[in-house]
Amino acid sequence: MRRKLIAGNWKMNLGYRDSEKLAKDISAKTGKKELDSLDILLCPPYVSLGIVNKAIKDTGIKLGAQNLFFENDGAYTGEISASMLKSVGCEYVISGHSERRTIFHETNADVNKKVRKTIESGMKPILCVGESLIEREDDIFEGIIEKQLTEGLEGITAELMKGVVIAYEPVWAIGTGLNATPEQASSVHGFIGNVIQNLYDKNTAEELVIIYGGSVNTKNAEEILSACGIDGALIGGASLKADDFTYIVKTAANIKQLVK
Ligand code: 13P
Repeated sequence: MRRKLIAGNWKMNLGYRDSEKLAKDISAKTGKKELDSLDILLCPPYVSLGIVNKAIKDTGIKLGAQNLFFENDGAYTGEISASMLKSVGCEYVISGHSERRTIFHETNADVNKKVRKTIESGMKPILCVGESLIEREDDIFEGIIEKQLTEGLEGITAELMKGVVIAYEPVWAIGTGLNATPEQASSVHGFIGNVIQNLYDKNTAEELVIIYGGSVNTKNAEEILSACGIDGALIGGASLKADDFTYIVKTAANIKQLVK
């Protein structure tokens, strides 16, 4: 059974104490109703994972990382391994975020290694896919997303797909205040489902949690989260304010059905 997921990607924001405060504020404002009806995830920067883990301990709110390096250990200055993330309480790892693809030149092959390592280490990957503005305008976005999925999921069996989350994040909607319309997002989520059905089977596609990211805020959350095929959200800017993030969490909890 698919469960809704509302995740906050704090990106490179907030120091140690501010992270602790935000996590505590979010926990204080999150009730049983929300925790019973959906998964709530916080993805702070690496240095704050430990303190956020402590702040959300026993609350039911989950912890995730924004990235990892796919090697086990060794001479990789500045990198963080999957087992390190696991040891600090992470259950999810974001891979293939467009900021990593564009600024840090991560390829689909790199993303695939990260997704595989995340699963191998007993955590759940959130594989981000999405097109740039030019790719949408040129109407080649479906091909781009299909390639990101096919190459990003290479070697992952239908059984292992049970722990995978896909985030559709159109690059043109990230941090721009310009969200995809519910129709645009629904259409791409449906397309992602079809690609997964072709790569795997109908059941895997039906069980797959597909969340949307890109300028989700308190004003547009309800219509986006009510749209067909949208199982939750990956939130950047609005996840840095406890009131806004928990408002979106409560909005999601009040939407009864998950529809494909
Ligand atoms: P914004 O919500 O700030 O647009 O960021 C979305 C995002 O990139 C989440 O991963």
